[in-house]
Amino acid sequence: MRIALIGYGRMGQAVERVATARGHAVVGVIHRATPRSERESLAHAAEALIDFSHASAVAESVELALGAQRPLVIGTTGWDAQREAIAQRVRESGGSVIYAPNFSVAVQLYLQHAAALAAQLLRLESWDVAIEEIHHRGKADAPSGTARALAERLQRAAQPPREAVYPAPTEHRLTENQFAIGVLRLGSEFGTHRLLLDGPYDWIEITHRAKSRDGFAYGAVRAAEWLRRRTGFYHFQEVLNEILSHTEEE
Ligand SMILES: NC(=O)c1ccc[n+]([C@@H]2O[C@H](COP(=O)([O-])OP(=O)(O)OC[C@H]3O[C@@H](n4cnc5c(N)ncnc54)[C@H](OP(=O)(O)O)[C@@H]3O)[C@@H](O)[C@H]2O)c1
Repeated sequence: MRIALIGYGRMGQAVERVATARGHAVVGVIHRATPRSERESLAHAAEALIDFSHASAVAESVELALGAQRPLVIGTTGWDAQREAIAQRVRESGGSVIYAPNFSVAVQLYLQHAAALAAQLLRLESWDVAIEEIHHRGKADAPSGTARALAERLQRAAQPPREAVYPAPTEHRLTENQFAIGVLRLGSEFGTHRLLLDGPYDWIEITHRAKSRDGFAYGAVRAAEWLRRRTGFYHFQEVLNEILSHTEEE
């Protein structure tokens, strides 16, 4: 498959490495300063676009992909407020887009199981929950897309309902129905997420720690392969089911 990358930072380079190893060709890179005409011709020359850039670029990437009628994988985070409007625009235009705040297969499973465990424990008396994420200094958004996704799942699953709070309040207490998201920025950390559960007799911590960026890149490339013959706005869950059933796309 011929792939065009939007953004060529830490993740763009990891995607190039993984895509090449899977037999694909990166036919070009769209940088912040790439002129519109060049973006369009690159999009037409590619069979799929993969965006790991900046939240401010996502709407433009979607329009580029819709205009060229090419599938688009979005790994960029920090654009949650636009997500519903963009998903609707893609569906109405017959485009193909897949988004995940975290394309690691292990993280997707982590999210499912961690949220399910938390939902069960939070039904018991006196259990409390918090989320902590640690990323490298260069990360542009906070909390991470993955921490937000975990928080969303907890908010949906917890009974009685709980609301995620970031940053934690400094001049008053958390209320009974709130929980905190903690954020650390440190060195070159690829990404650590920790779910903390505090009960009257027990403490549970479930941690995912990425050992490199290649796991995210692998998921994004698999998503591009999966998206080729589909239209709609998708989340990584559908690709995950296919990866877990061990079927490879031709
Ligand atoms: N979904 C996942 O699995 C996953 C995993 C890791 C990271 N991420 C997310 O992916 C994004 C990129 O992460 P990263 O670590 O690769 O960041 P990075 O190293 O800062 O790279 C981002 C690149 O995008 C470029 N860029 C910025 N605006 C652009 C535009 N309008 N058009 C084209 N390129 C543009 C930047 O160029 P300049 O240097 O000129 O600004 C930079 O080269 C972030 O949102 C991050 O949270 C997602």
